[in-house]
Amino acid sequence: MEHSANPDFSLVDPEDWGIRLLEEERRRIARDLHDGPIQVLINLSMRLQIIQRMLHTDIDLAKEELDRSQQRLIGSINEIRQLIYDLQPVAIDEIGLYAAIEALATRAQKDWGLACTIRLPETGDTAIGLTPAKTIAVYRLVQEALNNIHKHSQAEHAAIAITLDPSQLMITIADDGVGFDPAAITEGHFGLSGMTDRVQYLGGSAHIESAHGSGSTLTFTVPRGPYGTHA
Ligand SMILES: Nc1ncnc2c1ncn2[C@@H]1O[C@H](COP(=O)(O)OP(=O)(O)OP(=O)(O)O)[C@@H](O)[C@H]1O
Ligand SMILES: [Mg+2]
Repeated sequence: MEHSANPDFSLVDPEDWGIRLLEEERRRIARDLHDGPIQVLINLSMRLQIIQRMLHTDIDLAKEELDRSQQRLIGSINEIRQLIYDLQPVAIDEIGLYAAIEALATRAQKDWGLACTIRLPETGDTAIGLTPAKTIAVYRLVQEALNNIHKHSQAEHAAIAITLDPSQLMITIADDGVGFDPAAITEGHFGLSGMTDRVQYLGGSAHIESAHGSGSTLTFTVPRGPYGTHA
């Protein structure tokens, strides 16, 4: 199944678009906090009341429950850590895009056990020729793609590849996981649509190729030239 949305971004006022993206991100953070850590904390608060009563009736069970609650709390702390990590600004201008992508892959390997292979141009960062805004956009694409692979794909392996041609940077992020139907994504999911909107706004293109049972491949292009494109 292939899918690529194609709104006409030449009609979008850059300021409106920026605000829309910002609001979408805020909605996403609010949802992540509400659905994740807040639910766990509410649940833990109720458990603690039950454990308090158990202390008088069954001390062993109370201890077991305390252990379980502690595990859930640790899980929740890790979730919040991930959220903060994702929100942090990244010093791409200092370390360069390629090193920043390598750091994302190393972290995916270490924290999630996701094996990542990376294929980058040999010419180094100085030859990329993207504006800072476009460079960060490429980084955020990889970040969201890896988050999705971790959250949804059950993949063992992810492959990131960047190639440059005179007019554009092309990036693909593929996984060998369960795959999905891109045309069947319901409301309330912002990751893929945000990625697609972002590159199209920058004058590039997005292409999602996936089917149930056969992994997924995301392909994005971003124009390198300064003309006729935003940011
Ligand atoms: N690599 C993948 N493998 C399998 N399914 C995927 C993959 N990437 C996305 N999906 C499916 O597509 C859906 C939409 O992804 P999208 O990133 O838009 O939203 P989300 O990850 O569910 O939520 P969020 O708004 O936090 O990104 C996911 O819910 C999942 O079902
Ligand atoms: Mg997502």
